[in-house]
Amino acid sequence: MHELQRGAEVPDALTPYLAVDRSTPKHECWVTGHMVAGLDGTAAIGGRVGSLSTPPDQELFRRMRQIADIVLVGAETVRREGYGPGRLSEEAQTARRRLGQSPVPPVAVVSRSLEFDWDATVFTGATASARTHILTCEAADPTRRAEAEKHARVIVAGRERVEPAAALRALADLGHRVVLCEGGPRWLGELVAADRLDELCLSVSPLMGGDPLPISVTPPGAPLAGFELRGVMAEDDTLFLRYERQER
Ligand SMILES: NC(=O)c1ccc[n+]([C@@H]2O[C@H](COP(=O)([O-])OP(=O)(O)OC[C@H]3O[C@@H](n4cnc5c(N)ncnc54)[C@H](OP(=O)(O)O)[C@@H]3O)[C@@H](O)[C@H]2O)c1
Repeated sequence: MHELQRGAEVPDALTPYLAVDRSTPKHECWVTGHMVAGLDGTAAIGGRVGSLSTPPDQELFRRMRQIADIVLVGAETVRREGYGPGRLSEEAQTARRRLGQSPVPPVAVVSRSLEFDWDATVFTGATASARTHILTCEAADPTRRAEAEKHARVIVAGRERVEPAAALRALADLGHRVVLCEGGPRWLGELVAADRLDELCLSVSPLMGGDPLPISVTPPGAPLAGFELRGVMAEDDTLFLRYERQER
């Protein structure tokens, strides 16, 4: 057991995340989960993440998209959170261009129902270089799929449901090697169950009493996944933990 003490100030909270070597994923691409939990593990308050996220967490959440080739998110989170395309500072966009990345990463939404408000900014506000993607499955309604194709780049990855491995293979084939999954818990749980989560950046917010929804909901029967602690930072009362999947 070791006592952790507050150490030197980190001048820029993103620096430790930018420094991670994500070039050797175990599978198709490197998948980083970025989530915030209350002290009781809750992932939402009243169906939204807003009041769970503290100012330093909100700031990190916005900036973390700099690490991503693409942002991956479950449809329910898009519907509930009024998701929009990523926005990054000019400096971050320049740094990305230097690495051959699009100025902002596109968003990829996972859905079987394809029930979306097509006027939502996640579709209408995306730039040409970061068009929103939809990952769906063969069983999706063909009429809805035809509509989806008018508003997003549609990728079919699986029969009855989106298969995590097929979805990530499709993203890797498009050149997306670092995938930032921003939830929600059900989609993140599918990635964990498929052994596709390489890294978890977890903010612990000093609150209790939210929704009975943990940050990852794995399907019944999924094996346990172990992680190694690689980083700890704190700002005020918010803890920032970084874990990587345990070597097996
Ligand atoms: N604490 C955090 O960091 C955090 C982060 C994100 C979200 N949240 C919260 O989490 C809640 C929403 O999360 P959630 O777990 O209910 O939903 P979610 O994971 O965001 O989305 C679930 C939806 O994604 C689609 N989906 C998931 N797996 C699929 C598969 N294998 N194949 C096809 N489609 C699949 C389905 O969409 P269709 O229904 O369209 O088929 C499913 O209904 C909200 O309250 C939000 O505020 C918290």
